Amino acid sequence: MSESAADRLPSKSHILAAAFEVPRTVVTNDELSSVLDTSDEWIQQRSGVKERHYVDDAEGSVPLAERAARRAIEKAGLQVGDIDLLLCGTLSPDIDFPGNSALLQDRLGLGGCLALDVRNQCSGFLYMLAMADQYVRTGGAKHVLVVGSEVHSSGLEFADRSRHVTVLFGDGAGAVVVGASPSPDRGLLTVNLHSEGAFAEKLCLLGPGSLHKPRLAKDWTPADIYGWPQMDGRFVFRHAVTRMGECIDEALTAIGATKDDIAMVIPHQANLRINQLVAMGLGFGDERMANNIDRYGNTTAATIPILLTETWDAGRIREGDLVCLAAFGAGFTWGAALYRW
Ligand SMILES: CC(C)(COP(=O)(O)OP(=O)(O)OC[C@H]1O[C@@H](n2cnc3c(N)ncnc32)[C@H](O)[C@@H]1OP(=O)(O)O)[C@@H](O)C(=O)NCCC(=O)NCCS
Repeated sequence: MSESAADRLPSKSHILAAAFEVPRTVVTNDELSSVLDTSDEWIQQRSGVKERHYVDDAEGSVPLAERAARRAIEKAGLQVGDIDLLLCGTLSPDIDFPGNSALLQDRLGLGGCLALDVRNQCSGFLYMLAMADQYVRTGGAKHVLVVGSEVHSSGLEFADRSRHVTVLFGDGAGAVVVGASPSPDRGLLTVNLHSEGAFAEKLCLLGPGSLHKPRLAKDWTPADIYGWPQMDGRFVFRHAVTRMGECIDEALTAIGATKDDIAMVIPHQANLRINQLVAMGLGFGDERMANNIDRYGNTTAATIPILLTETWDAGRIREGDLVCLAAFGAGFTWGAALYRW
């Protein structure tokens, strides 16, 4: 690339617009308590969740993603055809393969552009933002559509042995458009990403997968085929608190800032108590940490873009603010990003 072409590349990427979509049906803790041995009081006290949204029968994560994506593109003042890279994060794809990115690309009529699937669960959105940043700053893409979407409700076990998992999750989709920052002072300042596969089995879904031969057997029940998510809740909880605190510190150090400089943290929503402990470590009150787990539960890859949209639309983040996004999830995977908004 000639020097002049390199000079024209943006020095920073930024989130140009954000939008989300959740299904209409709201499921309260009391409703779950009628099928599981649990209670509204237990769920609220231990996790902060009051209700979550579930799709009606047979709606996948791609239709949710499409609605969030179209809204984000419109908010950015762009046409769908302006998107030249599509990144999709989910652990609940519509079909086993190809991934959601191919299916969403087709629904959006974006045939021909680069479309990629990212499987990093609750940290997937941050991994995608880091990729979008690389593409934008190196001239590989101008407008990146980053979408996290999940339909958990069809993959949860509504039985008492899974109650610690089932009560936490909800369905939804969130999308952002990433492009060149309008100003060199604004945009993504730093992002760190981590993973530790040694703890994969602490939060996982074991089937279907190529470990089984044949992968699908004729006499299997739906539970054998699809399996149920497994989680060592206490272990995940402890690691989430420690790792999220660490990666926020790491991001601050990378740009020479302090906790006091942060205007707003947009954390993943796995458990309100996790976020309260992270906030305590930062010395933050509610005014500097956004949460919406009470209304949506954990929507995995969709969580951060949903919360970002709500916080931004409510005017709680403004131009010039230092905004921190942080996540922890299965893998384990975790990371933090700092944006000058
Ligand atoms: C799952 C989680 C809410 C459980 O909360 P907890 O305070 O750790 O509770 P425990 O697992 O220690 O269980 C305490 C008791 O509540 C019971 N319990 C678990 N789920 C319950 C439910 N939904 N309703 C009622 N009781 C429940 C347990 O059986 C246990 O009973 P016992 O004391 O008789 O054995 C919590 O561990 C958590 O949020 N972990 C992290 C989850 C996470 O981040 N996941 C996604 C990462 S992206």
